[in-house]
Amino acid sequence: MKLTKLAFALCASVALPMAAHATDLEVTHWWTSGGEAAAVAEFAKAFDATGNKWVDGAIAGSGDVARPIIISRILGGNPMGATQLNPGKDADDLIAAGLMQDLTELATAEDWATILRPKSQMDSCTLDGKVYCVPVNLHSGQWMWTNRKVYEDAGIAPPQNWAEMIAAAPALKEKGIIPLSLAEGWPIGLLTEDLIVAIAGVDNYVAVYKDRNMEMARGPEFAAVFKAIDEARQIIDPKTVVPQWNDAVALVIQGKAAANVMGDWAGGEFAVAGMVAGKDYDCLPGLGVEPVLGTGGDVFYFPKSEDPEVTKAQLAMASMMVTKEVQVAFNLKKGSLPMRSDVDLSAANDCMKKGLEILDKGTKVFPNNSQMLDRDSLNQINDVMKEFFSDLSITPEAAQEQFAAIIEAAPK
Ligand code: GAL
Repeated sequence: MKLTKLAFALCASVALPMAAHATDLEVTHWWTSGGEAAAVAEFAKAFDATGNKWVDGAIAGSGDVARPIIISRILGGNPMGATQLNPGKDADDLIAAGLMQDLTELATAEDWATILRPKSQMDSCTLDGKVYCVPVNLHSGQWMWTNRKVYEDAGIAPPQNWAEMIAAAPALKEKGIIPLSLAEGWPIGLLTEDLIVAIAGVDNYVAVYKDRNMEMARGPEFAAVFKAIDEARQIIDPKTVVPQWNDAVALVIQGKAAANVMGDWAGGEFAVAGMVAGKDYDCLPGLGVEPVLGTGGDVFYFPKSEDPEVTKAQLAMASMMVTKEVQVAFNLKKGSLPMRSDVDLSAANDCMKKGLEILDKGTKVFPNNSQMLDRDSLNQINDVMKEFFSDLSITPEAAQEQFAAIIEAAPK
């Protein structure tokens, strides 16, 4: 009895000083699917190990739902301790209003500019020479995911590119299989962009989204893209369109659908389901047309706090997120590429290896949409494409013109 009390007293005396410095930080993000939750648990575990506490503030329903909540909370004076956003322009107004913690000192001390790659992600976190966010991963949106067994059972060789997937659609439909699963909202915009990249090519995608080349946006290369999107909407039965991206991926995992176009975060779902890349499913970068890699991803911002203990904990979190161990543990679960090249990737799966190979070559690596266009314009494009998918009377030519008009009006 006495011994137990002594042991307890000893533990308390060891634990107490740590507890005195422990800080709870609420962290907002939109990682609520199976793979995403598994990945975020790695961050939480590593942050708790610093003696602080990760208070999970997951917001269900994707980035489109979470972003306005996150931004209005910070603007409204009710900030969280840390928050996920995508690299790009989303936090520019918050930084300009002086609401975000400056991470420059930490970034310099840890030499993020050298250890983190590609440079585009640090550039996205840097405004007027100051660093305001920490990039945690590289996510590319241009992948097609296919269930091999579904094709093999139908006597069809698993497609290796978009055209083969389209060609296999009628036979699958006859068997009651959804040839291409799709989710509402931004995944339709993602499919559009992926087809722009696959059909018009990376350079022309950047020419339109970044350089606002209107002749290109209205020209024949993009007309070919809208023809391809038209083909896609012809094979997709609106009744099979599901609410969330991970529902659409789940249809492929369950063998109810044959293929889905989604970012590499879909890989996290296949991993949770215990499926093996290159054996049970294929992941085809650039929809199998040409291997490409968009430099999307996730970054964390830390709203400014008056409390020095909070600031200290925020810096501890930022530092933890780029450590070698955490980079490996998090990204293996997430399906994304680590920000560091000096990590042990022996456990990388087929898809991660494909991504790393493209990254290493560097030739077909290009900016993410949010690094080129403002969020409002991106949402408008999603809306136009949603209409196009749900109303077959809209011609590809009319949709192309609506799309071009949004690009033309977008702030530079
Ligand atoms: C993206 C984010 C990814 C993934 C995806 C779907 O915005 O960068 O990490 O979470 O949304 O939720």
